[in-house]
Amino acid sequence: MTDPALDAEALRERAVASLITARDRTTLLTSCVDEPDLTAQHSPLMSPLVWDLAHIGNQEEQWLLRAVAGHEAIRPEIDGLYDAFEHPRAERPSLPLLPPDEARRYAADVRGRALDVLEAAAFDGTRLTEAGFAFGMIAQHEQQHDETMLITHQLRRGPRALTAPDPEPVPLFTGPSEVLVPGGPFTMGTSDEPWALDNERPAHRREVAPFRIDTTPVTNAAYQAFIADGGYDEPRWWTAEGWAHVRRNAITAPLFWRRDGGQWLRRRFGVTEAVPPDEPVLHVCWYEADAYARWAGRRLPTEAEWEKAARYDPAGDRSARYPWGDAEPTPEHANLGQRHLRPAPAGSYPAGESPLGVRQLIGDVWEWTSSDFLPYPGFRAFPYKEYSEVFFGPGHKVLRGGSFAVDAVACRGTFRNWDLPVRRQIFSGFRTARSEEI
Ligand code: AVJ
Ligand code: FE
Repeated sequence: MTDPALDAEALRERAVASLITARDRTTLLTSCVDEPDLTAQHSPLMSPLVWDLAHIGNQEEQWLLRAVAGHEAIRPEIDGLYDAFEHPRAERPSLPLLPPDEARRYAADVRGRALDVLEAAAFDGTRLTEAGFAFGMIAQHEQQHDETMLITHQLRRGPRALTAPDPEPVPLFTGPSEVLVPGGPFTMGTSDEPWALDNERPAHRREVAPFRIDTTPVTNAAYQAFIADGGYDEPRWWTAEGWAHVRRNAITAPLFWRRDGGQWLRRRFGVTEAVPPDEPVLHVCWYEADAYARWAGRRLPTEAEWEKAARYDPAGDRSARYPWGDAEPTPEHANLGQRHLRPAPAGSYPAGESPLGVRQLIGDVWEWTSSDFLPYPGFRAFPYKEYSEVFFGPGHKVLRGGSFAVDAVACRGTFRNWDLPVRRQIFSGFRTARSEEI
């Protein structure tokens, strides 16, 4: 960030564009099914789509209209309904939610006013508006719910409602299967990425021992070899909790997979198809990723290892914003933004590889790491504790890199996602690592 005045106008443009991109996606995700489907709960893990829609508007109203611009509440009586902490997801269908048309009107009304606020806002002064943070935060929030809503679509039974072109086919990846990341300190996290969320801050030095990491995410073919080798029947590959969990729930394959004679099929957005061998495995929980890695004689990378593989540039001895450098993602770099409704084959996006040659770190599948979700040294909750702080602790595992369902605004080398180790409705995969013997 060099010229602050010029940066402010570029950031304002980026905020407008990101808010519009997110809203276009929200509109598609909430208009491609009928009303009963919008108000129904498709899984106890998820909200009705119409809850996400009004919650998106309500968060935008609270932060951009009330906190930034000092407006009065438009409909103070609905705040409680859309507070994620007041009502767990399973309860949301029985709440007196705004019906679809009212939810749409409310979100559109908030958006109209928010764009006026954005146009007039000074991008300096308070921490909330410095570099347009609150606008970037709200664009990311809506985008995160666009991913949540896409998960709801994946869980929903019934015919296909969404379509998208497939990623470009690529020749089978024949490069090295793993890459050596040299040991030594690197800069983890960020203090100057304008829209980085609180848990990504501050930048700090981390010592990482030399290790090797998979060039690409683990594929369906590799994961099938684990299954075929009896991976789900062998307690020795699993942690005690992981073993108890897969036994109790009779888990024998990734979510949405089904065995049909000699082959594996999967259900993907309403269509049943053969599991493609060279695509990164999707819909596995942390326990499955961890067990696979142990079976393969390897382990999951730590969060610090993942970030060093993704950001460290040995040439400049610095950490970049993305594996390919500091430039914003383009379709040549990564599979992002729901432009495809599946990961791209392993080895895709050579233009997106890291200086050390690691591919597909950004986009395609969220990657489980071995790490618990914990604050960085010097962490300060901002602007609210319920985004990150209340989730810190050993219960949640960190995922990195972003899936095909994440938009560029909510995805970068420092971005941290987290979930419970049992979750697998999310667009989760993984890659493995091993320590370099010294
Ligand atoms: C960062 C994806 C774990 O969906 O629970 C959305 C994002 N926080 N609204 C979530 C979020 C508040 C969050 N994750
Ligand atoms: Fe939310």
